[in-house]
Amino acid sequence: MRELLSPKNLDYQDRAREVAEKYVRPRAAELDRTGEYGWDILEALKSYHLTGIWIPEEYGGQGTGVLDICLVVEQLSRACGGVGVAYAVNALGSFPIVLGGTHEQKQKYLPPIAAGDALIAFGLSEKASGSDAGSLRTTATRDGASYILNGHKKWNTNGAVASTYTVYALTDPDKGMRGISAFILDKGTPGFSVGKREDTMGIRTVPVNELDFVDCRVPASQLVGGKEGGGFRNAMMTLDRARPGVAAQALGLAQGALEWALRYTSERRQFGQTVMSHQAIQFMLADMATQVEAARQLVYTSARAIDAGVKNINKIAAMAKVFATDTAMRVTTDAVQLFGGYGYCRDYPIEKYMRDAKITQIYEGTNQVQRLVIGRALTRELKELTGHLDVTVEHFPDYKPAAAPEEE
Ligand code: CAA
Repeated sequence: MRELLSPKNLDYQDRAREVAEKYVRPRAAELDRTGEYGWDILEALKSYHLTGIWIPEEYGGQGTGVLDICLVVEQLSRACGGVGVAYAVNALGSFPIVLGGTHEQKQKYLPPIAAGDALIAFGLSEKASGSDAGSLRTTATRDGASYILNGHKKWNTNGAVASTYTVYALTDPDKGMRGISAFILDKGTPGFSVGKREDTMGIRTVPVNELDFVDCRVPASQLVGGKEGGGFRNAMMTLDRARPGVAAQALGLAQGALEWALRYTSERRQFGQTVMSHQAIQFMLADMATQVEAARQLVYTSARAIDAGVKNINKIAAMAKVFATDTAMRVTTDAVQLFGGYGYCRDYPIEKYMRDAKITQIYEGTNQVQRLVIGRALTRELKELTGHLDVTVEHFPDYKPAAAPEEE
């Protein structure tokens, strides 16, 4: 509901919608086929002043909150989920610097991202450490005024097109996840190479690559925040702020698929009437629209909570991610169903929505990990409420159970 958004929010939404309709939609099928990165779309985003909007004003950005990012990502994803994530992943990559970087690091790296002149990727996962992010193996060994990185990273969205990378590595392997630190890497640093590109099911316009580090020497000034050991916390705080963006990508995909389904079912005729006028189809569309609206409210609420500085945001961010991405999978699958056989063919736009939606349930923490985060938060809250975890009726003194009826 547009009425619930501020004039500033609406301005971002309107500009993003215009870019999506004018520049993204006409290119979506082609970018999906060729796997080409939409450099022309990046130029359009620049001319509409939509790149790096989350970067603080003192570093060349617009200092927007997460809600404005979500509004932009939703609109782009309505037209193409790949373009949506190509945009959003720059927030994921740069949040570690925004949240934990030194003034010098922010001054050097954030303005080009804000201007759309540099793209950034986020390097946390490895071949053997995905959901268990704390078990990563890449090392950064101190050597005088430098660190030497050895290891690899997996699933780096923006990999081949980025010029800057935030990379997590062990500076103190004996400390496990507490020995992880974050680094900023420049493309072209000797010993650092961008490896294999994944042949993905969806979001095909954006390259997803491996990163390799072989005796890669970086100056100590590239250590995020100038301090060792805070890397895991930095990654978790980053993901808390980025997950609503994935949720917004899913929301845009679901909304876009719903719009195509409405259009198709209102034009297609069977049994002498439009397909939409059959009640069975109307019920499907009604459920799809209701789920999309519910997802929207949760995505916006999570973003607003982050923007308002609410303390424990991991639960609401995880809830938004789970709900919106599961919704996207359901709604895009139903939209394919409503297109019938045509929905299964690439001559029609709808199957791409289903392919693009699937990854949203997987990346930036699988939906199983999100449920783990939510479950742990519930346990924590319960403990705070009761002081115990072994809850029995005695812990609720205000609850008076009724006496059991006497046996006859
Ligand atoms: N904010 C701040 N600190 C946090 C935190 C948060 N949200 N979550 C955990 N921490 C801190 C804890 O307080 C704890 O600190 P102490 O050491 O001081 O006690 C420390 O981090 C360890 O926390 P946990 O014990 O909870 O850690 P865990 O090993 O059990 O893992 C997890 C928790 C939630 C499963 C986490 O590993 C996780 O989120 N995994 C998924 C990783 C992920 O999302 N990967 C996707 C990468 S991006 C991508 O997909 C590619 C792309 O390009 C899009």
